[in-house]
Amino acid sequence: MKRAVYPGSFDPITNGHLDIIRRASEIFDEVVVGVLVNPDKKGLFDIEERVKLIEKSTSNISNVRVESFTGLLIDLMKKADAKIIVKGLRAISDFEYEFQMALLNNKLDLSIETVFLMTSENNSYISSSSIKQIAMFGGSIVDFVPEIIINDILEKFKK
Ligand code: PNS
Repeated sequence: MKRAVYPGSFDPITNGHLDIIRRASEIFDEVVVGVLVNPDKKGLFDIEERVKLIEKSTSNISNVRVESFTGLLIDLMKKADAKIIVKGLRAISDFEYEFQMALLNNKLDLSIETVFLMTSENNSYISSSSIKQIAMFGGSIVDFVPEIIINDILEKFKK
């Protein structure tokens, strides 16, 4: 079985992420979305909320599951029994960091390959941090995040 892991912070999941998950689910038998628990960075959503938002957004894709992880990505890869990391590339500015990560992960575990999918043109300018800013200042996020989670994001800013 070809199982791939798509790792990230997903605070929150965006249409850009969902596009990569959908396309990866067509290529691989199973896609495990790995949500990083980063103790140094307090996000807008806690880990359980992020996982739920991803599960809600991907409920119509049968070969996707969501797992949170701490520590190294290669340890999640072992646990999930996966050899392929999937990443989305938006712009040249993503490349340097992603290139370094791909080489590091391969150095840490030679059996790991990173596969990059180019983000669709209409998602290329979307990031979780810009969406948070737009929502915080009352702008419309309808074009940027899965419809099913829009209210969860708006509610968060009401609190
Ligand atoms: O959505 P993000 O914040 O760009 O995702 C970054 C992520 C989670 C893919 C990256 O930070 C990661 O893999 N973290 C786990 C730690 C690790 O394995 N680092 C690589 C070797 S130094």
